[in-house]
Amino acid sequence: MSESLAGARSLLARAERVTVLTGAGISAESGIPTFRGESGLWRSHRPEELATPEAFRRDPELVWSWYAWRRSIVATCEPNEGHRALARFALDRGGVTLVTQNVDGLHHRAAVAEAGDRASEPAHPWELHGSLLRDRCFDCNLKSDAHFPPVNELDTGPSRGSDWPETEVRDVEIPRCDACGGLLRPDVVWFGEALPTDALEGAFEAAAVADVCLVVGTSALVHPAASIPRATLRAGRPIVEVNLEPTALSPYAEVSLMGRAGATLPELLR
Ligand code: OAD
Repeated sequence: MSESLAGARSLLARAERVTVLTGAGISAESGIPTFRGESGLWRSHRPEELATPEAFRRDPELVWSWYAWRRSIVATCEPNEGHRALARFALDRGGVTLVTQNVDGLHHRAAVAEAGDRASEPAHPWELHGSLLRDRCFDCNLKSDAHFPPVNELDTGPSRGSDWPETEVRDVEIPRCDACGGLLRPDVVWFGEALPTDALEGAFEAAAVADVCLVVGTSALVHPAASIPRATLRAGRPIVEVNLEPTALSPYAEVSLMGRAGATLPELLR
């Protein structure tokens, strides 16, 4: 075992409360593209054309096409060893608050699978950037389960990765809100929008009282999410980071474990 892995393990073993912040990197091994990596989504697409309220007002079909494609990828993916190791860790030891920037629902799927017949119901992670698995009315904000478009209408076969088959859902009618008739949108946070207050407050409170903040697979460039581990630092407690490469947070981490989350987390959290 490497010295740093042993060091990180012993920090976690001594910790009563652990807050975990995850980003797109933890889902990369499930086949979900990240945003800023080599074939990241924001390398080939412009967020201001796809992930803002203005973009939706201008061209809701284009925006829906993008999210329908992303939903269709998630529908074919499974939680990986990293998600599963975190889920077991939380179920086995308690005192773990999971906070994610991801909108793919894979942490909860892993937790449900790992919980199996256990009596305890797995907690939902705080989802800072919303969820692809829900819709929300653009006008009145009423939330509903995602129901657009039926994912099996999209053939994502050769188009996986960051290659988006833009035209596929262009002609589908956008669903409307049952309550007010407004256009539905995916219940994710777009650029320029506020994060859900309960998730943001829950995350900062958990980080402020954590004995260790474990940060996995995020470039730590997008705030306020990237500021959450600093609440742990301000309380005089350490950050442990798992990532393929150094990030904006690495200079502040007590231990940086460089490697794939799917291989590193099972080792670290065993
Ligand atoms: P990024 O794409 O910015 O960063 C992904 C990070 O994961 C990088 O630091 C990679 O080195 C690392 N990584 C990739 N594969 C990995 C693996 N197998 N194991 C461990 N690490 C790996 O994604 P985020 O930091 O999550 O927001 O991006 C933050 C936010 O920016 C997203 O939630 C999204 C985006 O705009 C919204 O859409 C609101």
